[in-house]
Amino acid sequence: MLRLQNVTKEFGGLRAVDHVSFTIPKGSITGLIGPNGSGKTTLFNLISGIYKLTSGEISLDGQVISNKPAFRIAAMGLARTFQVVKPFNNISVYENVLVGAYIHHHNKSLAEAKVSEVIKLLDLGKYSGYQMKSLPLAMKKKVEIARALATDPKILLLDEVMGGLNPQETDFLLKEIRKINATGITIIVIEHKMKCIMSLAERILVLDSGVLIADGLPREVCGNVGVIKAYLGDDFCVED
Ligand SMILES: Nc1ncnc2c1ncn2[C@@H]1O[C@H](COP(=O)(O)OP(=O)(O)OP(=O)(O)O)[C@@H](O)[C@H]1O
Ligand SMILES: [Mg+2]
Repeated sequence: MLRLQNVTKEFGGLRAVDHVSFTIPKGSITGLIGPNGSGKTTLFNLISGIYKLTSGEISLDGQVISNKPAFRIAAMGLARTFQVVKPFNNISVYENVLVGAYIHHHNKSLAEAKVSEVIKLLDLGKYSGYQMKSLPLAMKKKVEIARALATDPKILLLDEVMGGLNPQETDFLLKEIRKINATGITIIVIEHKMKCIMSLAERILVLDSGVLIADGLPREVCGNVGVIKAYLGDDFCVED
């Protein structure tokens, strides 16, 4: 579904993403991990068209999307959430989700039907009239996912949606993400909470200083010496 070939992004002298290549199959849940500043969010910004690539190519369903404007990539079926939530604070939950629905449904009643469907899927019914600014962080994160889902994506990129949530809220969101995946939507998740990502994702990609240093099953990646070094440094890693 999604294919990256030698994707590179430089900011001045800093190479934040360094020749990254991978393909994401339809219907999968993939985890993207790596230490702070390793290039995870930059990679999402490249895929979703927020940043232009320095070099390389990204394609979605066989069509090249690299360097297309973000709104076109969204219309082609790619949605993302932001690490720092970006709701429209002075309007309701319902209206926040409606903004997403208008990408595909220009007719008001079709857009509203889409909003109702997403609100039901994510159990947001009783909050739909609340103003965004009155909601706690966990709910804001959920609405952010709902807004992304209302764009009818084929693929959804989630950037640390579980950051800042307590264990109950995290468990709840894990279930919601599985529910979304079960509707056929391909998902890539960036997450620092290792227990969550290892149970959620069927495959894990690991970035370190912009380089893809591991790509495998969760249990393979956990035992990978390069990955342990990237997180803990050489001193903590005992090699045979
Ligand atoms: N717009 C930008 N201009 C200059 N440098 C940037 C820009 N965006 C990101 N960077 C740099 O690129 C590197 C990767 O940052 P990025 O935000 O992608 O990391 P991350 O893996 O998402 O980290 P975190 O886990 O802390 O969210 C960092 O060194 C960061 O300072
Ligand atoms: Mg980030």
